[in-house]
Amino acid sequence: MCGIVGAVAQRNIVPVLVEGLRRLEYRGYDSCGVAVLSNGEPRRARSVARVADLDEQVVRETQLSGMTGIAHTRWATHGAPVTHNAHPIFSRDTVALVHNGIIENYEALREMLRGKGYEFVSQTDTEVIAHLIHSMYRGDLFQTVRDAVQQLHGAYAIAVIHKDQPHTVVGARQGSPLVVGVGEGENFLASDALALAGSTDRFAFLEEGDVVEITLEGVKIADRDGLPAQREVRVVSAYGGAVELGPYRHFMQKEIFEQPRAITDTIPQSDSFDADLFGEKAAGVFSEIDSILILACGTSYYSGLTAKYWLESIAKIPTQVEIASEYRYRESVPNPKSLVVTISQSGETADTIAALKHAQSLGHKHTLAICNVATSAMVRQTELAFLTHAGTEIGVASTKAFTTQLTALFVLAVTLAKMRGFVDAKREAAYLAQLRHLPAALNSVLALEPQIIAWSEEFARKENALFLGRGLHYPIALEGALKLKEISYIHAEAYPAGELKHGPLALVTEAMPVVTVAPNDALLDKLKSNMQEVRARGGELYVFADADTRIVSEDGIQVIRMPEHYGALSPILHVVPLQMLAYHTACARGTDVDKPRNLAKSVTVE
Ligand code: AGP
Repeated sequence: MCGIVGAVAQRNIVPVLVEGLRRLEYRGYDSCGVAVLSNGEPRRARSVARVADLDEQVVRETQLSGMTGIAHTRWATHGAPVTHNAHPIFSRDTVALVHNGIIENYEALREMLRGKGYEFVSQTDTEVIAHLIHSMYRGDLFQTVRDAVQQLHGAYAIAVIHKDQPHTVVGARQGSPLVVGVGEGENFLASDALALAGSTDRFAFLEEGDVVEITLEGVKIADRDGLPAQREVRVVSAYGGAVELGPYRHFMQKEIFEQPRAITDTIPQSDSFDADLFGEKAAGVFSEIDSILILACGTSYYSGLTAKYWLESIAKIPTQVEIASEYRYRESVPNPKSLVVTISQSGETADTIAALKHAQSLGHKHTLAICNVATSAMVRQTELAFLTHAGTEIGVASTKAFTTQLTALFVLAVTLAKMRGFVDAKREAAYLAQLRHLPAALNSVLALEPQIIAWSEEFARKENALFLGRGLHYPIALEGALKLKEISYIHAEAYPAGELKHGPLALVTEAMPVVTVAPNDALLDKLKSNMQEVRARGGELYVFADADTRIVSEDGIQVIRMPEHYGALSPILHVVPLQMLAYHTACARGTDVDKPRNLAKSVTVE
């Protein structure tokens, strides 16, 4: 999604702004731009290519330079990704503005501003904000933005400069992220602290409705009621390494291989599964609840679907899993004794946050976030939180965030099971031992990469694929299909294998590769029958089989042998070869793996 960077300094900040955009590239974008006050005038450069192209323009072609500026990566919502829609957007060569989010009442505002003589040169909703601020400006940009945002409906984070205030950038946020970076005699704004790695490690995280002014001297914040506000300044480090690729071709590949480390960091240090892993109040909350409602999107939703099996089989607690964007708009029956669990890598996904707020508005008082970003809006919005320690995930396709979410959700299931008397000390120790051995088991799965590369050459020539799984591994099949379509653009669908004969079997021909997740669990014999249904129609099976399943390669069946069955934690092992299959197929097709077309990393708009 769109990324914002802003800076006020006593040096040329164009390199800082462009570097910030480079660090935000992972969020996904289709155009970018930068504007600075240069000799008292706003000047800008914009590109519909990559940030590297913008860099080329500002360094070689325009030699743009200035000490106050804003920059943006745009993910188009209103208006095509063409130069005149790229931000920064100007108003009468006086105001320059960048925006992340969607202004819902932009049409009414545009008519009102046209009535005042403003001309619109873009198709963006953003242009109304620039003209609105221009029309309301009376010498104080901070006050003007505070007044102007009162007229905006929707979600936004903005950063704005005005030619008459040469050392000032004003920002505001409502529903989209914005952080303040605090430096020495210089200050910054950004959508994500990662953008400012190398410039500062001190950050203040703005609250919903905040308006902020940064100058050389300091930072001034007003809250949603217009009252002066202080936001704690925290030191956030260790961001630097995340944007370095090291020996890998893509961030996705790096992140797949980081999974043993990420899971090690996410497994609790303690020798028992205790409620306080989820927050001080968790013991009280967990003893009150009688069910669980999981809300999430995309890959995070699939981790929730997997967790349902654990929560119901290990902790015997009824669990419902809902797609956040559906839940937020449907009429549901709230149960105040249910624990609402939101799952998110970013903690900024607009649909999941809205679903959480919707649940709260219906009277759900117990909420838990499973999230990878400690400072995110989601973690601030819930009563309890469990942080996954995946580290920054740059690739748009989620990998290590998924397996660390599964790890966290397994810890939740065993913790609840223990409290509810379904897990004794012996079983608890066995679960812990299995969790701690997981990173080593994952390393043996990662070693399958050469065999997966061989398969990917064949997949790269296909246009469709089916994924099959059963039980606990059905959500893993769903995730495998999502990974493949997301980055290789091959149409892929996942089914619980028992559903094949109820429709999708009609698609099976020699041209249809059928990827099968085959753990040695209670459903193995059923799965083998489903595989025969495919073979009988000439379908080609590509099977990831546990070593102890006795499924062997034969005519029309290719097998990659996984380690022996890993019990309840098996889904965490089985998803990894599917990630690698998607990755190498995408590489073979030559797609932009880390930034697949039309997608964004952090989906901060509805
Ligand atoms: C997965 O590969 C995705 N890119 C996407 O489905 C993602 O999981 C979804 O948008 C939710 O994001 P979140 O975990 O940051 O909330």
